[in-house]
Amino acid sequence: VTYNVGYFIGSLSSESINRTLSEALIKVAPKDLHFTEIRIDDLPLYNRDLDANYPDEAVAMKEAIAASDAVLFVTPEYNRSIPGALMNAIDWASRPYGENSFDHVPVAVIGASPGGIGTAVAQQGLRGILSFCNARQMTAPEAYIQFNPEAYGEGGQVKDPELEKILTEFMREFREHIERVLTVLPRR
Ligand code: FNR
Repeated sequence: VTYNVGYFIGSLSSESINRTLSEALIKVAPKDLHFTEIRIDDLPLYNRDLDANYPDEAVAMKEAIAASDAVLFVTPEYNRSIPGALMNAIDWASRPYGENSFDHVPVAVIGASPGGIGTAVAQQGLRGILSFCNARQMTAPEAYIQFNPEAYGEGGQVKDPELEKILTEFMREFREHIERVLTVLPRR
């Protein structure tokens, strides 16, 4: 059995350190996890006036989540919260009322910052949002990554063995979490 993991990167930057982190996570992940990025950069701003007539980009994003067995969030911290672009994507995904894309979906949260707190505050905020969205979160391990560019090579390579161990363990546990959740709550 393989699991399809859709992943959100909370940054729109072409030089995103969180994109670099996502490449490293995919590289060290168990081989039965298959990853697809769910892009958030083409979404208009959420407006409930459009609930009856969702824009194509938002429909495509909801379909991408529906096609995923699990969802991984790799996000920066902006002003001690999650970036507006990611919140916007979550707002679209959670609606129209009664069609919340995250309902019962196994999810995990991680992020990188140049600062020592390593997105801890943003991740706590995101956990609260995902609780409300009724996602099934991996609660442990947590991973607050202080980004050191020296630790990453080309194509997701991790040069720092300590970091590689942390990321490998995180993805191994995420795979276990997905399996556990889907055993109890198979996707409809
Ligand atoms: C930041 N940054 C930041 N870092 C942090 O650790 N806590 C914070 O609250 C903030 N706030 C913040 C606000 C805004 C508007 C910006 C642009 C940046 C710094 C941030 O961690 C850094 O720019 C990262 O490189 C952003 O991640 P990506 O885009 O490289 O993935």
